[in-house]
Amino acid sequence: MSFRHSRIIGTGSYLPPRTVANEALVRELAARGIETSDEWIVERTGIRQRHLAEPGVACSELATEASRRALDAAALQPTDIDLIIVATSTPDYVFPSTACLVQKALGAPGGAAFDVQAVCSGFTYAMAVADSMIRTGLASRALVIGAEVFSRILDWNDRGTCVLFGDGAGAVVLAGDERPGVLAARLHADGRHESILRTAGNVCGGKVLGHPYLTMDGPAVFKLAVSVLDAVAREALADAGMTTADVDWFIPHQANVRIMQAAAKRIGIALEKVVVTVDRHANTSAASIPLALDVAVRDGRIRPGQNVLMEGVGGGFTWGAVLVRM
Ligand code: UT7
Repeated sequence: MSFRHSRIIGTGSYLPPRTVANEALVRELAARGIETSDEWIVERTGIRQRHLAEPGVACSELATEASRRALDAAALQPTDIDLIIVATSTPDYVFPSTACLVQKALGAPGGAAFDVQAVCSGFTYAMAVADSMIRTGLASRALVIGAEVFSRILDWNDRGTCVLFGDGAGAVVLAGDERPGVLAARLHADGRHESILRTAGNVCGGKVLGHPYLTMDGPAVFKLAVSVLDAVAREALADAGMTTADVDWFIPHQANVRIMQAAAKRIGIALEKVVVTVDRHANTSAASIPLALDVAVRDGRIRPGQNVLMEGVGGGFTWGAVLVRM
C-alpha cells in the first residue's frame, strides 16, 4: 500500500546521564597540559555542557531508548514498525548495521533496517529516504533515528575538536498518511570537500589503518556550512510553495550557535524561531536535529499544524533540508 504523504506521529530522545560542564572538561584537559577555557568555548560555539556515554555503552543502546520514547509518543508497538533507519557515523560495528541491532533490541523482526552515513546531515538524509519509501509503498511506519557516540572518535588531545561534541540519540516515528507531513526534502553533497571534516581510518587485516580520530578544519567548515544552509533552505521552501514567513520553527544542525544564527539571519528567520540545544547537548552530529525536535515538542513550543524547517550539514561534505508540517 502506498500513501500520498508521510507524517511525524511521535518523537523521542535519549541522552546518556553523565553531563560534563565546560569547567569540568577544562580542568580535565588542563591536567593533561591542554589549554582551553569556558569563555573560549561559550564565545566561539555557545556550548556549555555535553552528555557523554559511559565506556561500553553503544550507539544502538542510545538509539533503542530514543526509539522506545518515540513509539510511546506515537502510541505504537515495535511490531507496528516496518522500517528502521539509523543515521550514524559511530555505529556499534562495521557490520551489522546499528539499525539491525535496534530492531533486535526492540523485538520487531521482519521489516527493513539499515544505516545511512551522511555524518551531521544524516538525519535529513534518513528522513528523505524514509519519506520516499513510505510514499512509494515500500514501508508504512518507520523509525527514523539519529544516534551517535562521537566521544569515541574524539582526539582528547586536540582542543580544536574535543570540546565541541557530545553523545545522544533522537528518533521520530514517520507514518504513511493522506495529510502532509513531510512537505519537501532536498539533499546535496560535494565530495571535493571530503578532507575538511573526516575520520580517515578503516579496519584492514584486523588492524585500524589510518587515523581513527575526527579531524576538522573548523573555519573552512564554518564558511561552507553557512552558505550551503542558506541555499538548501530556499530550495525546500520553494518546493513546498512556501516562504520563510511560513516557517514556525527552524531546527538547524546544532554545531555552533554562531553558525545557526548566521544561517537564520541569511534566510530571514527570526532568532526566536530557532530551536537551540547546542548549549546543553554540544554537537551530537546526526542526533542533533531529532534531539532538538523532541525537546521543543515536549516543552510545548512545537505544536500540531506548525511548519518546522530542519537542516543538516557536515562531513562529506553533505547537507540537506527537510520541511515538515507537524
Ligand atoms: O558538525 C559538523 C559541522 N561542524 C561545524 O559546523 C563546526 C564548524 N566550525 C566551528 O564551529 C568553528 O570554526 C570552531 C568553533 C571549530 C572554531 O572557532 P573559530 O572562531 O573558527 O576559531 P579558529 O579555529 O579560527 O581558532 C581561533 C583560535 C586559534 O588560535 P590562534 O591560531 O588564533 O592563536 C586556535 O588555536 O582559537 C584557538 N583554539 C582554542 N583556544 C582555546 C582552538 N580551539 C580552542 C580551544 N580553546 N578549545
